[in-house]
Amino acid sequence: MIKGFIFDLDGVITDTAELHFLAWKKLADKMQWAFDREVNEELRGVSRMDSLQIIKNHNKANVAHEKLMELAAMKNDLYVESLETLTPNDYLSGAKELLVHLRKEGFKVALGSASKNSSKVLRQLDAMKYFDVIGDGNSVSKSKPAPDIFLFGAKKLGLKPQECVVYEDAEAGVDAAKAGGFYSVGIGPAERVGHADIRFNTMKEATLFAVKSHFADLF
Ligand code: BG6
Ligand code: MG
Repeated sequence: MIKGFIFDLDGVITDTAELHFLAWKKLADKMQWAFDREVNEELRGVSRMDSLQIIKNHNKANVAHEKLMELAAMKNDLYVESLETLTPNDYLSGAKELLVHLRKEGFKVALGSASKNSSKVLRQLDAMKYFDVIGDGNSVSKSKPAPDIFLFGAKKLGLKPQECVVYEDAEAGVDAAKAGGFYSVGIGPAERVGHADIRFNTMKEATLFAVKSHFADLF
């Protein structure tokens, strides 16, 4: 029986990918590194340090660990500054409606994001009130595709994985949900999240009604 929902943040609740892109781009320009939207796609759902490794490897650059830490901090400062522009109008279409619906129907709701800035993003959106538990980049050490962040959320909600539906827009996120034994909803193209139990192109289509119809015997 489904009793809870666990949501990824970036690309599911709001689209911060553009803000991440702009911050990485500024850093890359400073380093005279190549970085474009295609490489940015590879960073979807990937932790900050792993993202930096991907950009560094793309440029075949050699950077000492200490310098990498410094660069990651610089990118984060730029990103956090840009979050000030985020407002309660910046939910992905359908996301707020779904969160309100879940509250109304009494489901338990957790966040399961790789971002260490999750709370800041939720505050900017005025979305804290929709979540019973916040699982973010500070909650666990192993990031997606490990299932740890979703297992953390389920445990805090007092639910088993098979009682929860996970919403994800990243390939590694769907992998993580499946590895943990959760039901999964993929948001985005089949090439990316086609391995989810059910897939929608956008959050607008991923309503409670649509999910309930798909997993009819589980509600
Ligand atoms: C994920 C994003 O949610 O969080 C990634 O999809 C990002 O792009 C990761 O790198 C870590 O975010 P932060 O805010 O801790 O740098
Ligand atoms: Mg995401």
